[in-house]
Amino acid sequence: MDFETIRTETRGPVALVTLNRPEALNALNSRVLEELIRAFAEFEADPEQRCLVLTGAGDKAFAAGADIKEMAAMAAADFYAADFFSRWTSHIVKATRKPWIAAVNGFALGGGCELAMMADITIAADTARFGQPEIRLGVGPGMGGSQRLTRAIGKAKAMEMCLTGRMMDASEAERAGLVARVVPRAQLLEEALKLAEEIAAQPPLAAIAVKEMVNAAFETTLEQGLIFERRVFQVLAGTADKAEGMAAFIAKRPGQWTGR
Ligand code: CAA
Repeated sequence: MDFETIRTETRGPVALVTLNRPEALNALNSRVLEELIRAFAEFEADPEQRCLVLTGAGDKAFAAGADIKEMAAMAAADFYAADFFSRWTSHIVKATRKPWIAAVNGFALGGGCELAMMADITIAADTARFGQPEIRLGVGPGMGGSQRLTRAIGKAKAMEMCLTGRMMDASEAERAGLVARVVPRAQLLEEALKLAEEIAAQPPLAAIAVKEMVNAAFETTLEQGLIFERRVFQVLAGTADKAEGMAAFIAKRPGQWTGR
């Protein structure tokens, strides 16, 4: 299957995936999901690729949501039978243990906002706008918006956004803790790739483990999370990269990682 709705390329250890339906504001249809699933599986399978950046083609949108034209004709039974949207969790969020970044270049609405929130780090262009406008379509978020947005920015703002469909601009999103950083539109890709390269240059096992540790904070009690963190730390302490990292620090030289 050739990619029709996304573009993929690699830049050294960084994979760059671009949602590529600018004429539909990169709306997420079934074909996009199939292609993203394949791109994420390829990223995960290649040990040379260490961090992925996901962005949108064009200047207007990262993704303006799930494809309304595709969903309009679907009955409740179709959504239910297919457990529609479930594969975003099972085949995108859970597809890779390696870190990935969403570089939000414009509208991130509905499923687009939800996709940005699936990323390990979200950075935004100053032109980005975030929202969960599904209520205006007679539905609600379906790819995690009510859960991830609430965890990211708290109940008050999440409730307001989901109940009204109001959009947040990039600086409000940064203040609310939805995005790690806002950069000028022209520098978004460069900054996202630089961040990805920085992550790709870290010891690979530690990068996977740190992602697991932070994600555990969303799934466990504090006590269980602290135990998990200590155990993972203790496992990392047995790696060659730990010996190298600490020796390199003491010798005042850069570490050379083997991923062992
Ligand atoms: N699905 C399908 N097509 C979409 C789309 C979407 N989510 N968003 C935009 N498009 C299409 C438009 O239909 C239009 O196509 P045509 O040229 O064929 O008419 C094209 O993209 C350009 O869009 P507009 O002309 O509307 O552009 P605009 O600049 O006037 O408005 C916008 C931009 C405010 C983002 C507006 O497009 C919009 O409101 N889009 C829908 C946003 C939305 O409701 N998203 C939630 C979808 S439901 C969902 O995501 C469920 C979930 O939780 C998973």
